[in-house]
Parts: sequence; structure tokens; C-alpha cells
Amino acid sequence: MQIFIDTADLGEIRQLYDTGLIDGVTTNPSLAASQGVQFVDLIQQICNIVDGPVSAEVTALEAAEMIAQGQKLAALHENVVVKVPLTVEGLKACHALAEEDIAVNVTLCFSAPQALLAAKAGARYISPFVGRLDDQGWDGMQLIRDIRHIYSNYLFDTEILAASIRHPQHVLDAAKAGADVCTIPPKVFRQLYHHSLTDIGLKSFMDDWQKSGLTI
Ligand code: G3P
Repeated sequence: MQIFIDTADLGEIRQLYDTGLIDGVTTNPSLAASQGVQFVDLIQQICNIVDGPVSAEVTALEAAEMIAQGQKLAALHENVVVKVPLTVEGLKACHALAEEDIAVNVTLCFSAPQALLAAKAGARYISPFVGRLDDQGWDGMQLIRDIRHIYSNYLFDTEILAASIRHPQHVLDAAKAGADVCTIPPKVFRQLYHHSLTDIGLKSFMDDWQKSGLTI
């Protein structure tokens, strides 16, 4: 499973990309708005840091304008993936942009039929929002499983990008459900590698090594 980082914070992106474990970045208008940088400059800077797909979302609501914004964003860098919302206008824009070989991430997906339509529209990625479904009392991970089932039935090559990830269990369950990508907020990414037993075990190894006087 590929790991994308779900942030527009350049400092976080630099630091986490340095681990060698990050395959790409996703942003959304809310994340971008928090940075106080012109959007195209922000996307350009992220692309300069990360050698992998960088999702940049359109903000128009009608297909023609989404397509124009998408073309502008795609022209910034070859790794830009244009993000469009899962509305009928977004699906129309996805279809048109895909015809131009522009990679599209269809976002704000909350149902399997929506995901079926995104695949038919030629989306490179579908972004089901697991956490926001859980927040409302639904089973977000079941949506990932349903989409995996449908895409496998028809050999769609649209990749499932599990989004709205709240904790490490979401990452584990997304991997078990066969998500192609999981986009993870920085805090949750750090929680993936941190374990108190690792810290305790390492301290004990280091104490014993120190006492022994051994060297490498
Ligand atoms: O970027 C899309 C998605 O990951 C947003 O997550 O936490 O705002 O539901 P969240």
C-alpha cells in the first residue's frame, strides 16, 4: 500500500518525506487555506519537495470551470493530480480531464455507487472519506471493502485512496481491505512507528550495552 501524507504544511512535508516512506501528498482547500501561501505557489513547492503524486483540488463548482482550473493546476508539474469533488459536475470534469491524460482524484466519496461512477469517468484515484463516515455512525471501512469488490469485479484500474484517516487502526484496516493508497495526517503517520514497548526495549538494550563497555 502506498502512503501519502495528507497536509499542505511544507515543514511537515519536508520532514516526513525525509523518512523515505512517503509516496505522495494530498491537499484540500481547507488544508491549503491554513498555509497563507498562494495556492499555485504552494503546489509548486510541494512538487519541488516530493517526487510523487501531489493532489491539488479545484474550487469551481461547474464542469467547464473545473476543467480550466484542472488544466492550469496540471500544467504546474507532471506529478500534479487534479482533485475534483464527487458531484455530477465533478464527474463530467473528471471525464474530460482524463481524456486529456490528466490524472484525476475524485474526492468526497461516501458511497460505493459514487465510486463506481468515478471509475467509469476515468478517475486515477477515488477518495472515500473513512473518518467522516465513522463520525456519523456509519462503517467507513466497509466502504473501502465494497469499492475493492466492485473494482475487482470489473478490473477498473482506478486506485482506492483511503482518506479522512483518524488513527493507526484506520491505516491497518485500509491495508487489510486492499486500499491502494492511504493518505495520512502527519500526527497519525508518527503514531504508526511509535510504540511504548519499542522505547522501553531500546532503553533496556542501551543501558545493558553501556554497562558492558562493548563497542562496535
Ligand atoms: O484530504 C481529504 C481528507 O483526508 C480529509 O480528512 O480529517 O478532514 O476528514 P478529514
